[in-house]
Amino acid sequence: MQTRQVLENILLIGFMGSGKSSVGRRLAISQRRRFIDTDEEIVDTCGLDVCAIFSHGGEEKFRSWESSVLCRLSNQQGMVLSTGGGIVLREENRVLLRKMGIIIWLDAAANILFKRAMRSKERPLLQSERPRERFNSLLDSRRDLYRGLADLYIDSSCLNHKEVMLKIVEGLADWRHKDSSVIH
Ligand code: S3P
Repeated sequence: MQTRQVLENILLIGFMGSGKSSVGRRLAISQRRRFIDTDEEIVDTCGLDVCAIFSHGGEEKFRSWESSVLCRLSNQQGMVLSTGGGIVLREENRVLLRKMGIIIWLDAAANILFKRAMRSKERPLLQSERPRERFNSLLDSRRDLYRGLADLYIDSSCLNHKEVMLKIVEGLADWRHKDSSVIH
């Protein structure tokens, strides 16, 4: 059992292409909260885009920025926070996320995630000669981490952004109804 100190934040986790940023923006408007995206915070802090951070400092440098941005955000309340797909990799991040609020895992079928993720050129981890293999191995290595953190799970395979947002609102109401002070 673990007591949540702050329940006001809504945190979106999930793999690339799961719709965290698009859904998060809508959700923030509907819940009258601030929307923050960890990738955008990193880019604003560094003055470099995600691909440039990866190409200058490698993945480790990016992960360090990601952890420091999360740490800075961890004492804020009232946000909808969309996180980068790899934020769950570091244990220190997982500990912070657990303390920050309710965690929603946005997921979809692998084929759908892959198609959506490949639409953007801003995903350096998929800029590989064999993007599908890379994608599969990253997804396999992360699904248990998402599962281990999630309070709510939403499969967005057959849903548009608005429908996902409405599912989250419904899920939040149920979740709060079940237990408003102490969560697993
Ligand atoms: C990453 C996901 C990206 C971004 C970076 C690394 C990952 O964010 O943080 O390219 O490791 O899965 P999105 O999940 O928003 O695409």
